[in-house]
Amino acid sequence: MFEWKQGQLFCEGVAVEKIARKYGTPVYIYSKDAIVKQISHIKEAFEGFNYLITYSLKANGNPYLLKLMINEGLGADTVSMGEVKLALKSGFRPNTIVFAGVGKREDELEFAIENGIKLINVESEEELNLLDSIAARKGKRVDIALRVNPDVRPDTIEKISTARKDSKFGIETESVERIFKNFKSKYLNIRGLHIHIGSQIFDWKPYKEAIERVEHLIDEVEIFDIGGGFGVDYHGGNREFDFQGLRENVLKPLSEKVGEIITEPGRFIVAPSGVLVTRVLYRKRNFVIVDAGMNDFSRPAYYGAFHRILNVHLRGKGKEIFAIGGPVCESTDVFGKEFEIERPERGDLLAIMDTGAYGMSMASNYNARPRPAEVLCDGETVKLIRRRENLDEVIWKNVP
Ligand code: LLP
Repeated sequence: MFEWKQGQLFCEGVAVEKIARKYGTPVYIYSKDAIVKQISHIKEAFEGFNYLITYSLKANGNPYLLKLMINEGLGADTVSMGEVKLALKSGFRPNTIVFAGVGKREDELEFAIENGIKLINVESEEELNLLDSIAARKGKRVDIALRVNPDVRPDTIEKISTARKDSKFGIETESVERIFKNFKSKYLNIRGLHIHIGSQIFDWKPYKEAIERVEHLIDEVEIFDIGGGFGVDYHGGNREFDFQGLRENVLKPLSEKVGEIITEPGRFIVAPSGVLVTRVLYRKRNFVIVDAGMNDFSRPAYYGAFHRILNVHLRGKGKEIFAIGGPVCESTDVFGKEFEIERPERGDLLAIMDTGAYGMSMASNYNARPRPAEVLCDGETVKLIRRRENLDEVIWKNVP
């Protein structure tokens, strides 16, 4: 958990300032407690039903965090051979791994089949036929789910909405009907239906609406995957996903129709469990320039996403309004334009909050910048779980 103690931001039992001094900046700091607590909220909603929470690796694939997920009994939601391998290597059992993705290559499908993972979520009729031929060639029976595009528009950020007809995801309902009617295979077993309606959702209603659109197909399957998308309040307020509503209105009725419910959350588990700590390099006009850039954390630049930024050591200097930007040579490399923040000075540390999801996993080497270090706090213990990249790795490693 992140808390204030005597004017200093702490991650569990350790001052963020102390961690930054030891490991340098920019650095991602995660709280084990926070992750476990977030998972417990989801488990509460599913308690009593036959369910599997497959953590969405794309949100944050650090192997130490994945081990934590395994200890919590979670499975893995993967979208590439890399993520399937990462999941296997981190210790997820194959029968807890789900492989989704709109553009799986043939070798990726082969790999998933060879490793006997739980479900492959198919996203087009062409993929279905390809998978059938691979399974036949290998003489293996494969369990699959069909990802349906239910054509709903949850009230979320346009750029991360995924279940509209004009989006590239999923198979439209009519084609799924056709598949159930006509598709015969000795090797593929259509065991499930899968929907994922988008991200940053707070209400159960879009889930309900999406499921209703495919209601007539549910009898055909034993497993229903409701996707991820549970929202977090990036403003630090008390807006919360309505898990109780989901339980009553979505999971209860669904559990009467299918044998197993899967959900694949990413953001909800890790976003509030991590911060990116960065050092103030310079001030000019109303700008604060910090040593983290859009290569380290890209959500504001990509989506115009809002993240709170706090001075980690309050010294009572009073608040002022600043724009906060990184060192990358792009105008979009700003984390926010109008932040009221305790007056930062050169050398101060700032925490960009709620950056545990889609932070490090989307980091890049743009401007030849090494990706940050990652540490995990557990009570008084701080563990380095990924060292900072070094310049040799960034500049020369892959150059023959
Ligand atoms: N399942 C599927 C099929 C997905 O496409 C996603 C996310 C998830 C599960 C997990 O969604 P979550 O529970 O994390 O909302 N980079 C963007 C988010 C992209 C989400 C992509 N798909 C961001 O930083 O907001």
